[in-house]
Amino acid sequence: MKHCKLIAIGVAFLAISGWVNSQSAMINISGRNTTCLNGEWPVIIDPTGIGDWRQVWLEKKPVKKTDFFEYSFEGGPGMKVPGDFNSQKPELTYFEGTVWYKKVVFLKIEPEKRVFIHFGAVNYVADIYLNGEHIGSHEGGFTPFQIEITKDIRAGENSFIIKVNNQRLNDGVPGLGYDWFNYGGITRDVHLIETHKAFIEDYQIQLQKHSNNTIFGWVKMNGDHKSQTIRVKIPELKIDYKTISDNEGFAEVRFKADFQLWTPEAPKLYNVIIQSESDTIADEIGFRNIEVIGNGIFLNGKRIFLKGVNIHEENPIKASRAYSEEDARLLLGWAKDLGCNMVRLAHYPHNEYMVKSAEKMGMMVWNEIPVYQHIEFSDPDVPLKMEIMLKEMVRRDRNRCGVIIWSLSNETYNFTPNRDKALIELTKNVKNLDSTRLITHVMNSQGYENNTFNVWDPLYSHADIISLNEYVGWYVPWQGNPTDTQWKFALANKPVFISEFGGEALYGSNYGPKDEAAYWSEEYQEQIYTDQIAMFEKVPNLCGVCPWLLVDYRSPGRMHPVFQNGWNRKGLISDKGEKKKAWYVMKQYFNRMNYEKQ
Ligand code: GCU
Repeated sequence: MKHCKLIAIGVAFLAISGWVNSQSAMINISGRNTTCLNGEWPVIIDPTGIGDWRQVWLEKKPVKKTDFFEYSFEGGPGMKVPGDFNSQKPELTYFEGTVWYKKVVFLKIEPEKRVFIHFGAVNYVADIYLNGEHIGSHEGGFTPFQIEITKDIRAGENSFIIKVNNQRLNDGVPGLGYDWFNYGGITRDVHLIETHKAFIEDYQIQLQKHSNNTIFGWVKMNGDHKSQTIRVKIPELKIDYKTISDNEGFAEVRFKADFQLWTPEAPKLYNVIIQSESDTIADEIGFRNIEVIGNGIFLNGKRIFLKGVNIHEENPIKASRAYSEEDARLLLGWAKDLGCNMVRLAHYPHNEYMVKSAEKMGMMVWNEIPVYQHIEFSDPDVPLKMEIMLKEMVRRDRNRCGVIIWSLSNETYNFTPNRDKALIELTKNVKNLDSTRLITHVMNSQGYENNTFNVWDPLYSHADIISLNEYVGWYVPWQGNPTDTQWKFALANKPVFISEFGGEALYGSNYGPKDEAAYWSEEYQEQIYTDQIAMFEKVPNLCGVCPWLLVDYRSPGRMHPVFQNGWNRKGLISDKGEKKKAWYVMKQYFNRMNYEKQ
């Protein structure tokens, strides 16, 4: 059996990692000629993982009367793609294992064309087979990947078998423990992409750092005819910029224009056409400048306050992994209603509908890779996996002006040399990939004694903003009056962002004004928010806050049978969309927090 067709980016990692991420250049599918493969796919649910031994991908069929094979896609269940498999079958609710998917496509061979299969995301490990051959694999549940199949397809019927396994890995990213639901499956859209032999592999058309009118970008060609005339057109601004890509296929793009800059109040996007002699892409791109000046964050030269909220990629009403524009609009509509101008998409890159819808709705976006709490940094494969996820995230969203922050880790256990080394390296890499956005690492390692916070972590000196999670009032009792809280920062002059705070409440568990509200009640959560907001007045260089979180979400580790029942109840909204009392406290604060008004 010819194993594993490896292309471009993965090569270096192969030698060391043992985990193959076979992917060619990441093709931007928007504005392209693609065939969507979403729908009901036949599956084989494989609780023991015996499918590998049975070589399911060979799809053997009995010939003689005495032949029999103990598996078949025919006559078996189906599974909706995109969609997690856990919420589609009750027996799979807490399933962490292997599910085999099958998809048949009929193709014509066109000698002048190249063909790729593109996945928006598959959680967690995907092995891709085509016509009985293993053609590639991918690890990581929240970023897109694709595989070139030009040489593997045949005219007529082609059979894809996708082995999906969502088992947790000690050397995984995330690792074994995380506070969200481990939805497995082909969780986002699947497309076939057809391109010319030479195509536009990637591009960045964004404003130069610190500029409100100068584009400093590039276009990268892939294929046999790399040096081509490249045009970047913005019809609305009568821009038709011409250049030529070099023999490596690289073309620098630099021009000035009088843009209407993207802002939350006026989220202006332009139709941008990138054209080469053999390929054309259209994208909706906004232009804005985001930077840290002194202890503040400035958007297009104006100081802003980030009114954020944390969101998991889950539709609480359906109790399933969110994947559609409709899901995105539901969640972002609630955030907009709360008065947010920013959303932290926790703790992993969410689907493209989420990012693009936020941008269209005037919400700034915080993107994060799932380097979450306990990560096996001492394992040499782990930093490589983090880097692949980072690259896949940046490639997908580098032209999204709504995305203002790349967050590279959350609550990693500090002061271990392996952690510091790996995350400092990762910080350098992201700056090489994209210098136009802010970089951060989220900590919860601050000290809190005598009602005084002591904030320090080695990674803060490599980040643009200091982001910290604190749960005073919930996991940690107040040590004094919130308004008397003191803050000490080792790094005195960086913007400070409270990236998580809050507490749990079961909607409807209420106490009368005279009663002392107890844990899990709306009044108790409401008081936490009131106290936190009082404390915020005292936080130096505060550039924004972000409650944990918008809506209750599923987490198997939350097992209190009455108040949680498998849900983290820190939402400001219940899983049925009901607003808790704390919601109104937060909304009122956001209405107040607007630098312009002050
Ligand atoms: C942490 C963590 C979240 C978690 C939250 C909580 O700070 O970052 O992922 O869900 O606390 O305890 O609810």
